[in-house]
Order: sequence, then structure tokens, then C-alpha cells
Amino acid sequence: MGFDLIVKGGTLVSEVGFARSDIAVRAGRVAALGKKLDERGARTLDASGCFVVPGGVDAHTHFDLPFGRTTTADDFKTGSLAAACGGTTTILDFATQERGRPLKQALEEWRRKAEGRCHVDYGFHLAVVDLPESRLRELDWAVRAGCPSFKFYMAYPGRLMLDDGAIARAMLRLQDIGGLASVHAENGGLIDVLVRRALREGRRAPRWHPLTRPPAAEAEAVHRAIVLAEVTGCPLYVVHVSTAEGAGEIRRARERGLRVYGETCPQYLFLSDREYRRPGFEGAKFVMSPPLRPEGHPRRLWDALRQNWLQVVATDHCSFNYRKGRGASKQLGRKDFSRIPNGAPGVETRLPLLWDAVERGDLSPARFVELVSADPARLFGLYPRKGCLAPGSDADLAVLDPRKARLLSAKTHHANVDYSPYEGRRVRAWVRDVLLRGRPLVRSGEPVGGSPGGAFLERKPLGA
Ligand code: URP
Ligand code: ZN
Ligand code: ZN
Repeated sequence: MGFDLIVKGGTLVSEVGFARSDIAVRAGRVAALGKKLDERGARTLDASGCFVVPGGVDAHTHFDLPFGRTTTADDFKTGSLAAACGGTTTILDFATQERGRPLKQALEEWRRKAEGRCHVDYGFHLAVVDLPESRLRELDWAVRAGCPSFKFYMAYPGRLMLDDGAIARAMLRLQDIGGLASVHAENGGLIDVLVRRALREGRRAPRWHPLTRPPAAEAEAVHRAIVLAEVTGCPLYVVHVSTAEGAGEIRRARERGLRVYGETCPQYLFLSDREYRRPGFEGAKFVMSPPLRPEGHPRRLWDALRQNWLQVVATDHCSFNYRKGRGASKQLGRKDFSRIPNGAPGVETRLPLLWDAVERGDLSPARFVELVSADPARLFGLYPRKGCLAPGSDADLAVLDPRKARLLSAKTHHANVDYSPYEGRRVRAWVRDVLLRGRPLVRSGEPVGGSPGGAFLERKPLGA
């Protein structure tokens, strides 16, 4: 039987490094790798001079997330298009429970939001914000419904935060049923006290956001989550680690043999708290939680990635416009930094930024593949369907052209948000072509158009 498509002449990048290999695709999957593949009847995609990487797996996005009475700037249509243009072909979004409502309702609602609107394949984590004893069985239901990973907020008291008892209860159940617990690790009670004091003292500008969320508030919460995970026997994934101390807690847990994993995001690697010193209200563009950190932290997070103390680079894409207009905007917090919607865009720039780190020698090509694709696929039950290019895997890939440097800018990005945290930054990687299950999503850096063809990824309970 012939092949449908051959990606030809590129350098394949995998977890073991570089290989000069063509990739043959049949019925949406990788059918063969090698040289001199039988081209009869197949279309070809010329990748000469380019790197071919497995499609990115972004394990942390927030599309169509309600905020007050409005929602994030990106929904599944625009967010997933931006993902595709940045070489990401799978996203895991957070179906977020409403207080007092069943988990089932959140999952059904997020499936409705994404159905027929997502350009890349997608799955969900369930963000649980309210878990009385009577709801515990709903965790079993969620795992059976293909959603075996959960997020618990240790911050945002009164809105999203679960107390330690509720998290421990959930973890005890999850370790029984093949679930993975993830945490937003910041000490919400302490932060609340610091925010109130700052406001009382008239400190209202964006630069007070990081000052009221100190690194110690993250490190303490990471440590506490690890204690809960160790005692309950539940595997733990710490999202958006922003500090050297947080990464250090994870390192020590892993050295003791615990099943503890960590994620960081490009904003904590490429940006620092200097952004909050921008003139006027500009710092609001960088108001996210946890906040950007002083210079020493990014350097140590790079070390943590290289040493496998952290396993994943995801984005936490949660976009709000800077200017007033459609949707919730950062301007909501003009007079009070604590009202600035938390979050920033990033789904489109993750692979270009990380590949640029490869080009400048900060990351090996193999580690790049692990961090942006293979390890998130593994941890969240998608490997080897996603996260690698081997016979039988989905033919999800990105062709990166290193000959064409690009300037990152809101003027050219595809996300539906009016700023880029990386405005004007030059990267030596251009995401030229992207395939999802063998179908072109992006050609010459632009979306090919057509109706969204992303599919829901029903995941199995997660093993050790
Ligand atoms: O500021 C952030 N990170 N917003 C998104 C929600 C979260 O905590 O991940
Ligand atoms: Zn979070
Ligand atoms: Zn998030």
C-alpha cells in the first residue's frame, strides 16, 4: 500500500537527537521513517534545510475561561489557531468547576465550548474548586469520562482555593483510581493578607502584584503539596513553577523517589519582574499568578529544565486584552492591581522561543522535544500517539525553518489579544508548516483555513 504524504529532506528531531529521515504518512499516522521511501502516488512536503519536530503538546491552556461576567480574549477557535501557528497540535485545557456545581457539568460545558471549534486535538484537566465528601465519587466519573488529571488551587481563597483537607481527600481517591493531582502552588491565605495590607496603604499599581506574592509563598505551597502527595501516595504535577525555591522542592522530592513532576512556562524563563517597572499601567500586561520573578530565578529554572528537575514547559495561555474593548481587559484593575485579570498569552510563542534557546545552545534539541512534546504526552496519557514521530503515532508535526528569523509581535500573531509579552523579540525559528494527523494546518507560516478538525482526546487512567 502506498503512502498519502512524504515529508522529505528534513532533519528529524526526537528525544535521541537529530536524524536525517523522511517521514511517510498514511491515514493520518506515521507509516514509515527512513530514506528512499516509495513516493509513488504520494504528495510531498519539502522540508530541506528545516527541522521536523513532533507537534507540540501544551498541557496548560485556558481558552474561553469566564472571568467575572466576561471571558478570556481567546476562545477555542482563536486560541487553537494561535496554537497551530506556533507548532502546537495538542492542548490540554482546564474545565473549571463552578462552586456548588457537579464536576460533570464543567466537563460537559468545556466539551461544548471546544466541539467543532478547536483546530488542534484537545483534552481536559478538571479544575476542582469545591469538593465536599459528597462529591468525591465524581472524581471516579471524571476519570472514566477520559479526564484523569485534576487541578487544585492553593491560592485565590473564596473563589478557587481548596483547603488542605479537601486536597488530601481528593488525592487519596485519585491514587486509587489512576488520577493525577496537579496544584497551583501559592499560599493563598498569606497572599490575601499581603494584598489587603498593600491596598490599605494605598499601593495600587501593577508593580505591587509581585510584591504581594513573594517567592516564599510559592515554595511553601509546593512543599505542602508534596507532603500531601507523599502521605496520600498520589502522583503530583506542579503547574507553572516560577521560582528557584519551588523547583528545588520538586528536585528534593524526586531525589527521594516520589512521583512528583513540575512544569514551568516561557514567561518565567524569558521574562523577569523588571516588566512591572514599565511606565504607566503597562506592567498590567504581565500580571499573572504566580508573577514574574527577579533575574536569578529564570537562570535557575533553565538549570532545572536541563537537569530534569522540571519535566514540562507549558504556557498557561490565559489572554486578556490590554486595552478596553471586547471581553475582560487589564483596564479593570486601573485603580487596584488586585482586580487586574490574571494571565497572559503564550500558546503561539512557546515553540519558537524554546527552539531559539536550542539555537543559542541553552537547551539540547533532544531536551526540547521532551519538554514541549514527549514528556507532557507521557505524563498525561497521550504517548506514543502524541509526543513522538514513530510508526503508528499521529502524524502531528511542525517544520521549523532556522534560516528565517522572526520578530514576535501582536501585529502578526494569530491570537485574539491586543498585545504580546514578547513584542519585538527576535527568534531564530520560523514555524513554516504544521500538520495535524497528516492534514496541513499551517503553510508558509499562515493557517490554511477550513473548518476546525481537532478531536477530543479521551485519556485512560494514568499509571505510575
Ligand atoms: O495568572 C494566571 N496564571 N491565570 C490563569 C489561571 C491559573 O492560575 O493558572
Ligand atoms: Zn494556576
Ligand atoms: Zn493556568
